Amino acid sequence: PGAWSSTPTPRVRRAACPGSFDPATNGHLDVIRRVSPLFDEIVVAIGVNQSKNRMFEPDERLEMIREATADLPNVKVDVFKGLIVDFCRVNDIPVIVKGLRMVSDFDYELQMGQMNHSLAGVETLFIPTNPIYSFLSSSLVKEIAAFGGDVSGMVPEPVLRRLQQRQKR
Ligand code: PNS
Repeated sequence: PGAWSSTPTPRVRRAACPGSFDPATNGHLDVIRRVSPLFDEIVVAIGVNQSKNRMFEPDERLEMIREATADLPNVKVDVFKGLIVDFCRVNDIPVIVKGLRMVSDFDYELQMGQMNHSLAGVETLFIPTNPIYSFLSSSLVKEIAAFGGDVSGMVPEPVLRRLQQRQKR
């Protein structure tokens, strides 16, 4: 080892953007895009604990977000089971970033943020979503798509493509 070996490795400033992303919407992508320049690395963390009205498999959700963020080199995408704070600990992530669409989002997000801090010291930062997306949600997108409605403009291209493939079946 030469003299360089004593140089400490700079700490990577990493943040998690967790969600179900079933499927990701343009609102999610807007948050990920705006947050990506603020940290060295963003980990989009897809939570896959069982839920009733699941539409896409975890692998498909991962693939769609990877495609939609392919132009953002510091954005990684991963799937997690269990608690988000455990995922953060294993991946050396001190902070979670969440978008808030409206005041009603804040109720539950505040409670989760306080719980996650109390559980493991993981911090939560909130970012206001772009108001043009404040009425968007994955569940509405699923419902509209299921009844043959037009969701272009609501979801990124890789999601739209898969929703349209399903409508054709
Ligand atoms: O997109 P969503 O459904 O609002 O995402 C919610 C998600 C997955 C981020 C949240 O439910 C979560 O963190 N789940 C993992 C389980 C967990 O850690 N629960 C305790 C939170 S205090």
